[in-house]
Amino acid sequence: MTAPLIDPFARAITYLRVSVTDRCDFRCVYCMSENMTFLPKKELLTLEELDRMCSTFVGLGVRKLRITGGEPLVRRDIMTFFNGMTRHLESGALDELTLTTNGSQLERFADQLYAAGVRRVNVSLDTLDETKFADITRWGRLKQVLRGIDAAQKAGLRIKINAVALKGFNEEELPTITQWCAERDMDLTWIEVMPMGDIGNEDRLGQYWSLKDVRAEYENHYAVSDLAERSGGPARYVRLEETRQKIGFITPLSHNFCESCNRVRLTCTGELYMCLGQEDMADLRQPLRDHPNTEAPLQDAIRAAISHKPKGHDFDYSRQTLDGQMPRHMSHTGG
Ligand code: GTP
Ligand code: 5AD
Ligand code: SF4
Repeated sequence: MTAPLIDPFARAITYLRVSVTDRCDFRCVYCMSENMTFLPKKELLTLEELDRMCSTFVGLGVRKLRITGGEPLVRRDIMTFFNGMTRHLESGALDELTLTTNGSQLERFADQLYAAGVRRVNVSLDTLDETKFADITRWGRLKQVLRGIDAAQKAGLRIKINAVALKGFNEEELPTITQWCAERDMDLTWIEVMPMGDIGNEDRLGQYWSLKDVRAEYENHYAVSDLAERSGGPARYVRLEETRQKIGFITPLSHNFCESCNRVRLTCTGELYMCLGQEDMADLRQPLRDHPNTEAPLQDAIRAAISHKPKGHDFDYSRQTLDGQMPRHMSHTGG
């Protein structure tokens, strides 16, 4: 048995998020600027390298693998990678293989994802209004995403909708989005907007809608009870008693959840970020490429990186400034 990955704060690292591409077919205003420079393709880990990297983490005790991006389903031939990971589900080494997607390509991939062993998909969707959707994603079309969600449900995939809570944007849609999720038997999670990357002229502080207020809004309309249940990520859940619906809250700003952090993030170039909100990272591509036939150097590099995992992020808007702001875009580290 290899020793599990334990960080300096005694947190076991069992969840790896992997950004397989920094590219995306949308340009969400809180995530990217309109003119993004993407990495040259030659910088990317190949699909074989991604497989080897993830398999090494699984060998070190990672039990949940979430594939992200950018938009993971725009990476060429991505199903080859998913199909490779199926063997870790079958062996019992992995509990969950899943992804976070904007939904634009789900119509094409839903059945294949299910066949690869994916059972749950998180779809980012901030509004159900076509015009607002086009505004916030700049390049997205709502209908295409809704068709993707239909296809995913038809394929048997459970859907969680991730909505970034944005003041003056989707505030008044809270009841509509909530009801839509209830009707379709989908979970819903709200996320506080984080200061990640330069996004041009957008005003992050003005966008910030604290989930304390979102919860209060729910309490105006429903009986809300806290749930102890977790999905292995940072979301905390409540139940709306009237609809029996589960609503998640991801609150990096209003309530820090770093003490129970169980995850690290691999970028498409093989950098390992120990925290979404810190700059500290380790290059794993070199030990991977330098030692194609032995696992030990890569395992050692992973262990060394985990031994530097910071306590948490420093995001803070309380002084009406963007304290803890990260120069990286969310698409770099995969959210
Ligand atoms: P499940 O619990 O498995 O459904 O997923 P999850 O919440 O871990 O994953 P998901 O991709 O849905 O995460 C949603 C968003 O939460 C991410 O895109 C980030 O914006 C945020 N998030 C996830 N993990 C962290 C974290 O460690 N720190 C911070 N600050 N935000 C996170
Ligand atoms: N703050 C919070 N969430 C963000 N996302 C992208 N950028 C940000 C940000 N600055 C979300 C997306 C998606 C996930 C990958 O990250 O909406 O749900
Ligand atoms: Fe793409 Fe997701 Fe970023 Fe939107 S939030 S631009 S869908 S990576």
